[in-house]
Amino acid sequence: MENIRHLMNVMDLSVDELDALLALARRIYDDPGRYKNACEGKKLATCFYEPSTRTRLSFEAAMLNLGGKVLGFSSADSSSAAKGESVADTIRVISSYADICAMRHPKEGAPYVASIHSKIPVINAGDGGHNHPTQTLTDLMTIKKLKGRLNNLTIGMCGDLKFGRTVHSLVEAMVRYPDVKFIFISPPELKIPDYLRKDILEKNNVTFSEESVLEEAMPRLDILYMTRVQRERFFNEEDYIRLKDTFILDHKKMKLAPKDMLVLHPLPRVNEISTEVDSDPRAVYFKQAEFGVYVRMALILKLLDLEY
Ligand code: CP
Repeated sequence: MENIRHLMNVMDLSVDELDALLALARRIYDDPGRYKNACEGKKLATCFYEPSTRTRLSFEAAMLNLGGKVLGFSSADSSSAAKGESVADTIRVISSYADICAMRHPKEGAPYVASIHSKIPVINAGDGGHNHPTQTLTDLMTIKKLKGRLNNLTIGMCGDLKFGRTVHSLVEAMVRYPDVKFIFISPPELKIPDYLRKDILEKNNVTFSEESVLEEAMPRLDILYMTRVQRERFFNEEDYIRLKDTFILDHKKMKLAPKDMLVLHPLPRVNEISTEVDSDPRAVYFKQAEFGVYVRMALILKLLDLEY
């Protein structure tokens, strides 16, 4: 359907649009009351074929905060997908029930298929190991608000860089800002995908290194982006068990980091950040989850063409 704006990938937004969206999210954060009726009469459908806490509930909170209503399902089992209905048929139907849809799906590209058949804006709320653009908006708001800039940063990404869709989306977004360098820290089996290395990093002449010792990288970082090893994407449990505790951020490792380094994590956390780190002022992952509501409020306004 033409003239409908979807969000599949953070690259669907120009840098100017990204900056405007973050500025809107910041205005909403500063004065939420001003937006409390902005979506009156509008409905958001959350179609989640895969588990979620933050993304689904922050989308729902975002629409409720804007004065709209929400409907949806939180697992494939509780929808007619369990009876074999296609994503294309589902979105055709949802298009007549709601004004905008956030969709999470374990298959890469499923929200894109939905967007082709949709009469309403579709937002990719995470597709397999591929992309998670609204997590990236959350990450960008966190960095911008707490670090004051999106340029001139050395970002360490640690953990499951192969399956971690939040990593892929954040790299794609950040390479568009000047003087951003990356240090990728992972076991050899969980390195960044080839397409990210060749088509995004090398093509944009971005400085990056691939390393395997977190302690060695710590002193060089402005941001440390920790990730969980994605059990649900592994083909066998043995490999998951072998790799899951490769990197555990603890108080001792934090002592190696600059005083103003920030620790981000898209959450959920499993073992990769010891709870003793939570009280360190540099640990901002719960604040990051909070910001997710404001960027999703801004995105809903933008895609519904209700910009303030
Ligand atoms: N960060 C994130 O996507 O969390 P959920 O899986 O809980 O939505």
